[in-house]
Amino acid sequence: MPTLTIQPAGKTVAVAAGTTLLQALLAAGENVGHKCDGKAQCGSCHLFVQDGRKTLSKIQRDENEKLDSIVGVGSKSRLACQAVIGEADIAVELLSFV
Ligand code: FES
Repeated sequence: MPTLTIQPAGKTVAVAAGTTLLQALLAAGENVGHKCDGKAQCGSCHLFVQDGRKTLSKIQRDENEKLDSIVGVGSKSRLACQAVIGEADIAVELLSFV
């Protein structure tokens, strides 16, 4: 089972492949915005993936379009609701400015 490391909390939890980052973070007790309930419309679940980007599902059109409209997006940006966890470990950084 892959692990998910969450910064800045410094927490590491085991996650099941096939769950979204948003589901995994909420299950871990993290307070992640998800105003649109995971439909790639609000951008409040934006975070940075520090490690393990390649194990996540690829960015699809809806996510790409939303990311294009968000301030503060960088090369490590993903929408947690759209990124599905694969088999490898991953580390994310929750953002305080969203
Ligand atoms: S929960 Fe709204 S974009 Fe992810």
